[in-house]
Amino acid sequence: MRCAASRVAGFVLAGLAAGALGPAAAFAAPTTPPAASGGTSAADLKSDGPTQPAKVQDGQYTDKNGDPTYHVTDSGKKVDWYTMSGYLRYNANCIVCHGPDGMGSTYAPSLVDALKGMDYAHFAGIIVGGKKDVNASQELVMPAFGDNRNVMCYMPDIYTYLRARSDGALGRNRPPEHEPKPAAFEKAEDACMK
Ligand code: HEC
Repeated sequence: MRCAASRVAGFVLAGLAAGALGPAAAFAAPTTPPAASGGTSAADLKSDGPTQPAKVQDGQYTDKNGDPTYHVTDSGKKVDWYTMSGYLRYNANCIVCHGPDGMGSTYAPSLVDALKGMDYAHFAGIIVGGKKDVNASQELVMPAFGDNRNVMCYMPDIYTYLRARSDGALGRNRPPEHEPKPAAFEKAEDACMK
């Protein structure tokens, strides 16, 4: 899905990239070829569907469009680190309106439904800039998180987690097991939160 928001996201994130918010911004331009990476491990995987991993680099999985995606194994019991991180960040920043496990509330829509077919650029545009439903009788506002590092630095993580929920690859509640936290994640996190 492409929309005006994806272009906005590109611009806004390009601006953020000029600052310290590197890791999230890295996903704003999925068409950019991955930088030649000395010393990091990348592998091409067989991709079985649009949201399935086509590639893994330093514990982060991406689909064939370069969008971040999940890796759920052991019959839904074990997740990649980014999905785990996304679960934690979702619970810190989004649950208050969107409800436990992305299920939605009387105030905000289900993200399990909303993420179906939503690409990363579109998602990022909404998170960065917010969204307002002007037609609703009650004014519904999705706040803009563009200057909130606790969200911006973990945007791919939150997207990855919600995508797993949306695809039904991950059930409700905390994932019981996860892949180890990659060193590259820690490095990017430090740089982003500085
Ligand atoms: C203060 C309450 C609130 C918080 C906190 C909040 N949201 Fe929202 N969000 C909303 C509302 C209300 C809407 C619906 C807005 C509309 O319909 O225009 C929405 C819409 C969205 C949409 C678009 C859904 C669609 O169907 O297009 C996404 C994606 C989203 N939120 C993700 C998030 C994520 C991720 C977080 C945490 C980082 C978050 N939201 C935190 C209230 C919130």
